[in-house]
Amino acid sequence: MKILITGGAGFIGGNFCHYMVEKYPNDKFVCLDALTYAGNMETLADILDRQNFKFVKGNICDTEFVDQLFAEEKFDIVVNFAAESHVDRSIQNPKIFLESNVIGVQTLMDACRKYKVARFHQVSTDEVYGDLPLDRPDLFFHEDTPLHTSSPYSASKASADLLVMAYYRTYQLPVTISRCSNNYGPYQFPEKLIPLIIKKAQNNEKLPIYGKGENVRDWLHVLDHCSAIDLIIHKGKVGEVYNIGGHNERTNLEVVKTILKVLGKPESLISFVTDRPGHDRRYAIDPEKITKELGWKPKYNFDTGIVATIKWNLDNQAWLSHVESGEYQNWLKKQYKD
Ligand code: NAD
Ligand code: DAU
Repeated sequence: MKILITGGAGFIGGNFCHYMVEKYPNDKFVCLDALTYAGNMETLADILDRQNFKFVKGNICDTEFVDQLFAEEKFDIVVNFAAESHVDRSIQNPKIFLESNVIGVQTLMDACRKYKVARFHQVSTDEVYGDLPLDRPDLFFHEDTPLHTSSPYSASKASADLLVMAYYRTYQLPVTISRCSNNYGPYQFPEKLIPLIIKKAQNNEKLPIYGKGENVRDWLHVLDHCSAIDLIIHKGKVGEVYNIGGHNERTNLEVVKTILKVLGKPESLISFVTDRPGHDRRYAIDPEKITKELGWKPKYNFDTGIVATIKWNLDNQAWLSHVESGEYQNWLKKQYKD
């Protein structure tokens, strides 16, 4: 079996490459990544010399390049992680989100059709469902919850999901979609809440909390996301959507206070800043379908997973300083100017 993993130099794709290369030594894995600011070869350093792994630099929107790669490699399965993934960046510059997250998906699916790939799996997000009110803890996102997006990022991901289902219905392309909640774990770029707060707290810098910090996210360890995708591409039903989440809801303030406690830093570092425009209030996944149909269960719980993630960030300062390029420094200045 030969599997293409796009976006494999990023956070979740990188963890998925490690997970799959280790678990399936007899399968072959090709990682395709454009190495944007979010993609880093050091994330893949441990597996670059493995016999069953190969890295290719390229853009999923580049039709000619993608066509040639598919012609040469003859993939059985394509798992698409490649995307612009940060909501705040999508608010500053939506266009690149539409290019990579929508046109990129169309380009990959056209190649899948032409070269008769047996499965195209789209890694989507719970953000396509919009948000839930804070005072209704009884409500959850189900696979048939209507798409109702808030940010240019989530709108681009929902557009891709619609396109994937259109390719299934119109061309019978064998597709699956997964919609996961917020991930945390090793190799996450320090623009996202958890690694950003760990880094800033360690340096005794102010911790920017949007609004009142009441927004709720449903946290899942990245390796639990990887095991769920592994199950879906091997056992999932074509044409189906699977939600992935582990019922680990926390307010942002709770997450930040937990990190401060583990690091032994004072809560006085917390600084409430201007809210994110269109800020989604609460995400909460109902994972019953993947649990019942495919037997998936998460291994990590947030209380132990967050401690391990803090330790990973402290132990991997070299990785962190290398990913913080000049481009990232410019972005930080612009985003947190107040
Ligand atoms: P990330 O930003 O860390 O990594 C994205 C990777 O894609 C990078 O390596 C980047 O170089 C690559 N990439 C971007 N545009 C590309 C293009 N046009 N061609 C080729 N490569 C390109 O993102 P992540 O957090 O690892 O998210 C991966 C996927 O999972 C995304 O599709 C995202 O929407 C989805 N997702 C993320 C989360 C989360 O909490 N981070 C949760 C659910 C779903
Ligand atoms: O739910 C899945 C989604 O989770 C993925 O699809 C996205 O790719 C991923 O980035 C993530 O989106 P969020 O917007 O939820 O993640 P982020 O880490 O940016 O923010 C988490 C929460 O923390 C959110 O409510 C905004 C808040 N926040 C974030 C930052 C960066 C702050 O309060 N301060 C900050 O500086």
